[in-house]
Amino acid sequence: PLPARFRAPLPIPEQLKPVRRTADTDYYEIVQSAATAEIIPGLRTEIMGYNGTFPGPTITQDPGRRVVVTHRNDLPVPTVVHLHGGTTAYDSDGYPTDFLLPAETYGTFPAMPAMPGMPAMSDPDALVSRLRRDYTYPPQPRAATLWYHDHRMDFTGASVYRGLAGFHIAHDAQEQALPLPKGSRDVPLMIADRAFAADGSFLYPALDATMRTTPGVDKPYANGVMGDVILVNGAPWPVMKVDAARYRFRILNASNARTYQLALDGSSEGFTQIGTDHGLLAAPLRQDTLVIAAAERYDVIIDFGRHKVGDEITLVNRLGSGSTAAVMRFVVARATKDTSSVPATLSGTTAITPSGSMTQRIMKFHRGGQGEWLINDQAFDPSVSLADVPAGSTELWTVVSDFHHPFHIHNATVQVVSRDGRAPGPYDHGWKDTVFVNKGEKVQLAIRFSTHKGRYVFHCHNLEHEDMGMMATFRIT
Ligand code: C2O
Ligand code: CU
Repeated sequence: PLPARFRAPLPIPEQLKPVRRTADTDYYEIVQSAATAEIIPGLRTEIMGYNGTFPGPTITQDPGRRVVVTHRNDLPVPTVVHLHGGTTAYDSDGYPTDFLLPAETYGTFPAMPAMPGMPAMSDPDALVSRLRRDYTYPPQPRAATLWYHDHRMDFTGASVYRGLAGFHIAHDAQEQALPLPKGSRDVPLMIADRAFAADGSFLYPALDATMRTTPGVDKPYANGVMGDVILVNGAPWPVMKVDAARYRFRILNASNARTYQLALDGSSEGFTQIGTDHGLLAAPLRQDTLVIAAAERYDVIIDFGRHKVGDEITLVNRLGSGSTAAVMRFVVARATKDTSSVPATLSGTTAITPSGSMTQRIMKFHRGGQGEWLINDQAFDPSVSLADVPAGSTELWTVVSDFHHPFHIHNATVQVVSRDGRAPGPYDHGWKDTVFVNKGEKVQLAIRFSTHKGRYVFHCHNLEHEDMGMMATFRIT
């Protein structure tokens, strides 16, 4: 039986405290470890968590500050830490074979294959440093709701499903000066669906439950693994008591494969969208519903000040049915005074004007004859680069798709130029790193690459597609 809805209080992930600060850097430490959590009341679930929690602790990156996170891996399998949406040097980006090795398996996993122009990771010193490892995040270009999650080649779906995901929130001075809701009224919401066995364990249909040898999932799940329980910040269909005031919610879809169409039952106002993957929009946007694919983020304002104490507003999923049609509930608990507001201008964002001088590429996301998921006829191979792009350049990529795929690219920021030759859709505003591509669609993207040189990936963020080949390397040169 499924747990009762709207009973569990919404958990707020712990804010990670720096262990040390210098003039320009905040140092954090995370241990990746196995733990048990009570997700379904009365049952124990084995998780893999950053500091043993799911979601992992929230990392805050203050304006102009560099963040260094030292990760140690106490799990029985290699891991890879990726800051999704981050601008980072290649050796902190979490390339899928750039393992953080667990001490007990030291030496039994192959070293990261080198590519021309990249230092080899095969020397013993480099290996030892990979047991405990510093990931360095320079000041991020824009305030944005980023997240970190596991990215191990072939096993990302299984790792994230077991809990390896957390928020990383970057601020900038311009955003902080805005009168938007702050403090306890600035709330991250990590939405993720899961399925549970009767004993409370996660039901992930992995071919190899030890996550050591055979990657992939049972055939019927090749399109992606979905669960019948909707978790928000790790709790099933939680409830949040709110003041009658404006709140800022940073909504992240951390599901492996599920897409949601979010709406507010009990509110005539809908959402005021203020931000997307890479930060604030130029101006707020009224949205009745939000279609959010895996790994996308929306920053929204919900104004509970329009409600009276006792009102219930339910966040629902119009693409779901039965248990997956509801997400969580807000209950207006207190009248209050609200000094926040949503300014008409949120940020300076410039639209990229596509020009004939930009390099154009076509990336075909499709299924191969063996049921594997491919990009331009190629399954992920770390030794092959599908695109070498100049640092800091902007290119026009057309993503062509045979199924619905959330396209994601590392170390770059994206604007949607057109969909099937038409103007971008209602959810395409602003700077993105993950773009939902519908079945049979051609989406043209303007992609601005960072100035960090090295090897990165782009891929489908349906994690089962990613694990079954739908990922490719590109190089910033
Ligand atoms: Cu959210 Cu390549 O990842
Ligand atoms: Cu896909």
